[in-house]
Amino acid sequence: MSSEDSIAEDYDEIADEYADFYDTPAGKLYLHITTEQIHSYLEKFGDPITVLDIGCGQCTVARRLADRVSIKRFDGVDISTEMVERARHHLKESTIESTQIECADLRTYEYANGEYDIVLAQGNVASYVDVSPFLEQISSALKPGGYGFVSVITRHRYILRSLWTDDWNAFVRAFNGDQVNDRDGVPMTPYRVDALKSYIEDVNNLELVDIYPKVSYLNQLPESHQTTLMNEHWEEIKQIELENANSPDNYHGTQTEFVVRRPSPNDDDEYSV
Ligand SMILES: C[S@@+](CC[C@H](N)C(=O)[O-])C[C@H]1O[C@@H](n2cnc3c(N)ncnc32)[C@H](O)[C@@H]1O
Repeated sequence: MSSEDSIAEDYDEIADEYADFYDTPAGKLYLHITTEQIHSYLEKFGDPITVLDIGCGQCTVARRLADRVSIKRFDGVDISTEMVERARHHLKESTIESTQIECADLRTYEYANGEYDIVLAQGNVASYVDVSPFLEQISSALKPGGYGFVSVITRHRYILRSLWTDDWNAFVRAFNGDQVNDRDGVPMTPYRVDALKSYIEDVNNLELVDIYPKVSYLNQLPESHQTTLMNEHWEEIKQIELENANSPDNYHGTQTEFVVRRPSPNDDDEYSV
């Protein structure tokens, strides 16, 4: 079985569990921080926007964004048939004018070039594939002046989790940046923030605009602690994590968002990090 078949099967198996995650306190926090931060960039676009979601899963982030911004076209790609089926079902109830979800491997899928105001690559998708061609795809799919949002779980997360679970081998692999299994058992590469940053800097027609941690510490606690803390201090925690995401020198997130932008001929210098 090829690795892409195995990723598709892994995600087929956990499709329901994945949806349930967004109902947990940790999932709600993740979704809140993710969409608040992305939304702050969308204010730059006056008109209804076009969105591509790579490794879209059940399109949870895009559906939440659509509650606040007008989306005229939404295209999603995901390799898991179970994820795609659920995405199509949920999108029927959204306000988005035109939606198309393809079940395909993102590495071979032919994206429309230069047609999207934003490209989402959320939930660690970059860690399952060879990252340089993946970043090139984002650059060509974007309109000049469009933004990409690439989130990864960094190696801090795996290092911390291996220490909680006394898994010395996992600790060594994560520390070295070697392949590990993520929470759902899917093999992936845990990125160092500076490594991903330099990959982005090497891509033509893509500039790095911002890097911020999202859900930096709380997700690392054992689940029972997490739930108690988040249930008791939900409003304060949302506030603390948003402040954390906005702190310019905080590169130590265990979930990190990289905001990239395709330069436009009309640019001045205001965008780079
Ligand atoms: C962790 S989930 C994130 C889903 C969604 N972006 C979110 O934030 O909720 C990763 C998704 O990437 C998809 N994926 C992984 N490798 C892929 C590939 N080669 N082509 C297309 N989709 C892929 C998986 O099927 C899965 O739905």
